[in-house]
Amino acid sequence: MTQKDTFIYKLNENKHEMAMTTENLKVFYGDKEALHSSSLQFERFKITSLIGASGSGKSTFLRSLNRMNDTVASARVEGKIIYRDLDINSNDIDVYEMRKHIGMVFQRPNPFSKSIYQNITFALERYGEHDKKKLDEVVETTLKQASLWDQVKDDLHKSALSLSGGQQQRLCIARAIAMKPDILLMDEPASALDPISTQNIEETMMNLKDDFTIIIVTHNMQQAARISDYTAFFHMGQVIEFNETRKIFTRPRIKLTEDYVSGHFG
Ligand SMILES: Nc1ncnc2c1ncn2[C@@H]1O[C@H](COP(=O)(O)OP(=O)(O)OP(=O)(O)O)[C@@H](O)[C@H]1O
Ligand SMILES: [Mg+2]
Repeated sequence: MTQKDTFIYKLNENKHEMAMTTENLKVFYGDKEALHSSSLQFERFKITSLIGASGSGKSTFLRSLNRMNDTVASARVEGKIIYRDLDINSNDIDVYEMRKHIGMVFQRPNPFSKSIYQNITFALERYGEHDKKKLDEVVETTLKQASLWDQVKDDLHKSALSLSGGQQQRLCIARAIAMKPDILLMDEPASALDPISTQNIEETMMNLKDDFTIIIVTHNMQQAARISDYTAFFHMGQVIEFNETRKIFTRPRIKLTEDYVSGHFG
């Protein structure tokens, strides 16, 4: 991250402190505007769900938040993404440094073909942490936070690929939080999993809320209603409605939202 001086974050007592905000964020793929101007605020230590039909722009929006769209040649992202008083959508941002603060968990579990232990320590070691005791500690803490410790504590040096899909996804969550990000972005982290694993992932997310701000894309309305504090409804590249989750699900202001959350389309 550049502009180091402004980067020192002062936690204030404001209950509604924002971890991140977007201002007039737009995404184009070539000439096509896939995401229309959207300005959202993500409250610290809360879970915000992004919902909407397939192709409505949820992933496009989410991927912008830690500059994953940089890897898509045709993509152009306009507008501001404010994080700790910095616009992280600007050219002078060190994207790799920024991603230590804004981590991501993908739809399909993607552990490295290494041991469970190494999956968590790999990035830390690359950034210069070699103290074995410290690394052991991080492995234990993050696996506990990801509700996986009890299941793997005796097998830490087994291959991560020997785990079940749900366990692999929780390992990926542990790996992401080992970097101590402020914000965790998750794109349908439970969609490839069975109901029990999904429930475990949801419990894990509830655990993480105390320490992280979570922004999650989900197709599962019950999941959004159960776990999130805020919900944004996307439709055809636009944020149609954004509010407290219980309001979106019980008293939406807009008919389209009501139709979607009650299952009339999508
Ligand atoms: N790499 C890309 N190149 C061109 N167009 C893209 C690209 N990725 C997404 N799009 C288009 O942008 C629009 C939004 O797609 P996006 O993947 O953000 O939707 P989504 O809401 O995440 O859908 P889903 O629920 O199916 O994952 C779609 O019209 C899609 O075809
Ligand atoms: Mg998507």
